Amino acid sequence: MHGYFATCVRGLEPVLARELTALGANTVEPGRGGVSFRGDSALLYRSGLWLRTAVRVLRPILEADVFSSDELYDAVRTVKWEQYLTPEHTLAVDCNVRDSAITHSQYAARRVKDAICDQFRERLGIRPSVDPEQPMVGFNLHIHKNHAILSLDSSWSSLHKRGYRPIQTIAPLNEALAAGLLLQAGWNPETPLVDPMCGSATFCIEGAWMALNRAPGLTRKWFGFQGWPEFDRELWNAIRDDARAAVKKELPSPIVGTDVHPGAIELAKMNARNAGVANLLHLERKDLGQARPPAGVQPGVVICNPPYGERIGEEKEWIPLYTKLGQVIGEHWPGWRLFVFTSNDMLARKVKLPVKQRVPFFNGKIECQLWEYGAK
Ligand SMILES: C[S@@+](CC[C@H](N)C(=O)[O-])C[C@H]1O[C@@H](n2cnc3c(N)ncnc32)[C@H](O)[C@@H]1O
Repeated sequence: MHGYFATCVRGLEPVLARELTALGANTVEPGRGGVSFRGDSALLYRSGLWLRTAVRVLRPILEADVFSSDELYDAVRTVKWEQYLTPEHTLAVDCNVRDSAITHSQYAARRVKDAICDQFRERLGIRPSVDPEQPMVGFNLHIHKNHAILSLDSSWSSLHKRGYRPIQTIAPLNEALAAGLLLQAGWNPETPLVDPMCGSATFCIEGAWMALNRAPGLTRKWFGFQGWPEFDRELWNAIRDDARAAVKKELPSPIVGTDVHPGAIELAKMNARNAGVANLLHLERKDLGQARPPAGVQPGVVICNPPYGERIGEEKEWIPLYTKLGQVIGEHWPGWRLFVFTSNDMLARKVKLPVKQRVPFFNGKIECQLWEYGAK
């Protein structure tokens, strides 16, 4: 059993905590930008494979207050590094620094690497080498207000990079955030899901994976824990095989994405193919004004993140779109629950339906809210 910290978009901590509890994690405690928990190797492997809202899963191994890179070096030297790697392992250190005396993150990362390697060289005469791309043991160094936390990074590249979206579009939603918003909305995957401004179809694809019980990390090529000395390949293979066998073949209810932009629908279809759900989703070019519920199904959830105009003055352009959204849903979608994810309060109010609740999240550095509207 070890202690871990799973990081996430700020605002998603309670959602991630629920995911971890459902996976069987112990002492689950939401913090700022992540959730701490305890678990064994099986739980660690499952967390990488199954968590939809986590960005990385870290195993903290050292905490120290440091006011200079020399103090950081000395603190790192106090750890017996043979517990975590051998000279045959490759390593890399990823670092982020905020509001601290140490300001240069790359230099801080190098000092950590030097402290580890110097210890090996002094004790054994040889040292591990560096592989910045895919190290066997990857470290994460986080320094905030001169408090350093050094962790083993069990994910290495971010878990939100699911691999179905190779091309970056204008404003796609982070995959883990999209999944988190669906969970926050309380969408029941037995009911329909529609995104009438779907862009690259992130909501639709994440929704489909949820409805199919498909683990988001199923086709990921590398998790950081696979390079650790203690990695239990048999256990990992069994957990991954179970996850493969658990994938359903059909959606219980339709998932529909429409967008006025032909390029968006092309991209949405390509991403859906990459995600293995192209034959299950309904993706179509359509203006919001023409959006109607799929025929013959019970009401479900409509969710979207409309454009909001990042530059001053530009936001006004989008007023008619938000107003149209409220009109279309109010008139043609009785019983459906509407959720809008936007950073712009003025625009969100132009939907002009009664606001049931709004929950704040950070989309990168931008503060956004998920607005839920009720019927007039
Ligand atoms: C911020 S993007 C959505 C991004 C999407 N959530 C994703 O993850 O890729 C907003 C989308 O709204 C679409 N849009 C704008 N006006 C529209 C309209 N009148 N009808 C339908 N879609 C519209 C744009 O084409 C754009 O793809």
